[in-house]
Amino acid sequence: MTPLQTAELASTPTDWPATTMKVDPATADTASIVDGVSAVAIAVGLAADADRAVLARELSIVVPTFNESGNVAELTRRLGEALRGIAWELVYVDDDSPDDTAEAVRRLAQHDARIRVIQRIGRRGLSSACVEGVLATSAPYVAVMDADLQHDERLLPAMLQALRQGDLDIAIGSRYVDGGQIGEWDEQRATISRLATRVSHAVVPAALKDPMSGFFMIRREAFMARVHSLSALGFKILVDLFASGTQPLRFVELPYAFRARHAGQSKLDSHVAWDYGMLLIDKLIGRWIPARFVSFGLIGSAGVVVHMSVLALLFKPGLTSFQLGQAIAAGVAMVFNFFVNNLLTYRDQRLRGARLLRGLASFMLVCSVGAVANVGVAQFLFSRDQGWVPAALIGIVVAAVWNFATSSFYTWGRRSG
Ligand code: GDD
Ligand code: MN
Repeated sequence: MTPLQTAELASTPTDWPATTMKVDPATADTASIVDGVSAVAIAVGLAADADRAVLARELSIVVPTFNESGNVAELTRRLGEALRGIAWELVYVDDDSPDDTAEAVRRLAQHDARIRVIQRIGRRGLSSACVEGVLATSAPYVAVMDADLQHDERLLPAMLQALRQGDLDIAIGSRYVDGGQIGEWDEQRATISRLATRVSHAVVPAALKDPMSGFFMIRREAFMARVHSLSALGFKILVDLFASGTQPLRFVELPYAFRARHAGQSKLDSHVAWDYGMLLIDKLIGRWIPARFVSFGLIGSAGVVVHMSVLALLFKPGLTSFQLGQAIAAGVAMVFNFFVNNLLTYRDQRLRGARLLRGLASFMLVCSVGAVANVGVAQFLFSRDQGWVPAALIGIVVAAVWNFATSSFYTWGRRSG
């Protein structure tokens, strides 16, 4: 093959399959086999180049999923249509959905190398899923959107265009700017959304109209500049992004109409409100006190109420001695604290099945040590003339910190053992 032919081949990559097909090893003489080999080599080289071209993505799309198997094929198809002419990749982050969403994505990925799934086992959480998805991609721009087709994928090119200009960090799909719509929401949900938006302004700029949006595109550097200070708690990744980092985010809100969910059900439940409260607390005081500790402390206070009620029920009518009543009340309060913490404080790493019982046993052990420390510390301070109220309160704080630190490690921290 002459250098000229090689050059022609290289400049017209669509020709190479035809050229290689001309070589038939059964009939070809040695010279044409050599030619055939070099043609194949060039073809392989070109294919490698083509792969590299595919790898140079401009836009990564991250879609968190939980039980969305009925939506991923349609979303993928619509994204392909909306993003014609843009080099993109698509990553679903699935929390081991019982409906096998991850498997549904893997089937799609068999036909398109731009698609993949991260399947997280033993974890839950929309925000943390988004963060992990973004970190697993490499394009200079990253979009986050829901799987259920409520977010209008046709807005993505306009978002990308806005960011390409260079003077913005984030483009947000907004329901609350002119031209945006909240769709078919009942009055209750619309009111809750408005309320949550108002409260968010304690930590995000007042000019941001739709901080609750889960639909946005961010410049990678802007994301990386704040990823280490994200709380990644709960549902509201956008609030988290705005409230983290030292530089304010330069943003634009683009209107879109929030559509009805395609298939499946919303995962928004009452726990989401708790998570949202925790996120705001973490953003406001998390630097000094971890939000999980606040949650643990609030539940502990409720546990005190449980304790006193049980004691009153047993001891007051004379069913038990004070000592026995006190011991039973402490036991009931611990069980109560364990289950509520498992439900709320450690929602993202909730224990189930056999782990639940093992967790309960370790929690009661930890808290028993905490109770001994509580009494010991209070007694010591009291004997040093500290006054009974401060002595008792400090005893409680010491026990609470002990219980929290130890149980977060032994009860909820480790996945095995
Ligand atoms: N990986 C993962 N883990 N994904 C989750 C989880 C989870 O624990 N919970 C929900 N998702 C996924 C859902 O599968 C869906 O793709 C997306 O996150 C949003 O969940 P929905 O259940 O559809 O929430 P929504 O429609 O009530 O609220 C959404 O839209 C609002 C308006 O934009 C969320 O994005 C809100 O954050 C947003 O405010
Ligand atoms: Mn939804």
